[in-house]
Amino acid sequence: MTEAVAVEFRNVSKDYGSGSVLRNFNLTVPKGQIVTIIGPSGCGKTTLLKMINRLVEPSIGNVLVEGTDIGTLDAVELRRDIGYVIQQIGLFPHMTIEENISIVPKLKGAGKTERKERVDALLSLIGLPPEQYRKRYPHELSGGQQQRIGVARALASDPSIILMDEPFSALDPISRVQLQKELINLNQRLHKTIVFVTHDIDEALKIADRIILLNEGEVVQNSTPEELLAHPANDFVIEFVGQERFQPALPQGSAHHIMIDGLSIGSESPISEALEVMRINRVEGLAVIGKWGDLLGIVGIGEIGQHLPLDSRLKVGDLLQTDTVALQEHTPLSEVFELMRRSPILPVVDDDNRLIGTVTRSCVIEALGRHLHREVSSA
Ligand SMILES: Nc1ncnc2c1ncn2[C@@H]1O[C@H](COP(=O)(O)OP(=O)(O)OP(=O)(O)O)[C@@H](O)[C@H]1O
Ligand SMILES: [Mg+2]
Repeated sequence: MTEAVAVEFRNVSKDYGSGSVLRNFNLTVPKGQIVTIIGPSGCGKTTLLKMINRLVEPSIGNVLVEGTDIGTLDAVELRRDIGYVIQQIGLFPHMTIEENISIVPKLKGAGKTERKERVDALLSLIGLPPEQYRKRYPHELSGGQQQRIGVARALASDPSIILMDEPFSALDPISRVQLQKELINLNQRLHKTIVFVTHDIDEALKIADRIILLNEGEVVQNSTPEELLAHPANDFVIEFVGQERFQPALPQGSAHHIMIDGLSIGSESPISEALEVMRINRVEGLAVIGKWGDLLGIVGIGEIGQHLPLDSRLKVGDLLQTDTVALQEHTPLSEVFELMRRSPILPVVDDDNRLIGTVTRSCVIEALGRHLHREVSSA
């Protein structure tokens, strides 16, 4: 199945009169995702964005929005159906927040009650209580709050596409991170197509479903953030993104992928039997289970060593360690590796605390070895 396409550039070239900014440019933007456009200053990001709402016209080629060549549409109408948020948000200073947000709905003929409801819903959505903010003027808001109003205004006509040109770059780092989080949350609910231009690779990696990296009017890489970090297309990508971000990633997966069966013992078994199972399997601990296969804890070589010389009547249950962690099948490997440092063996249990497998040090070593092998052979 092919993904639904929100925006498509077909063989687009742009020349403002002093050489081409984009040359024979092709790009599709999938529907319902946050796509970030990133690249050095002057590479054509804003030009590209403005071609989607016809603030800039291509010199050659076509731009399609939801399958329609926008060259055939009325530019003003088109702009009312596409949200647009820029860095200096440009709220009208003499209008209240309510009036600012209602501009497009009003132009589209929405009645007074409908507009008020829309404003209140949007203010709530962006986390500003309507009773408190509706009647304020832009200068009575902080920079971050003004940018939020910008986002609300862009959402006001319920467009399916929103264009954002460095919308958060004038904000302090804390407000910026906050707004990035809010944008991600917002779009998990609204599923808009958001084309988001930024200079900042951290911002792009954080918010993007897809990243499009441009250089001199050409797409250098178009991929998910994960793909970009795992397989940078060339040296320019590495240099732009920053060498330090390309450390080999941890292996993907969860406890489920590396656990093995067995390596458990009943709490009533003699300690000598536990030692025998450990010796044969070359492990330093076993999961201890009760009658019904439920996990009671672990028995480890460290604890046994504390009770030398061993009394032959000792049972596993006598040396049971209950202060250990148990994994679930979906515990990520990164967490498994961390926990393994503090325990000779990690039991894996289901939702009813029944033992379903164990993770040993050699499971972890093997997983790391396989990962390293893959990293080396794909380099
Ligand atoms: N209206 C214009 N007239 C002439 N040239 C322009 C115009 N707008 C942009 N350009 C040129 O087109 C190129 C791309 O500009 P654009 O604004 O798209 O870059 P950008 O990637 O958004 O840069 P920045 O990151 O600095 O915002 C630049 O060389 C710029 O000088
Ligand atoms: Mg720009």
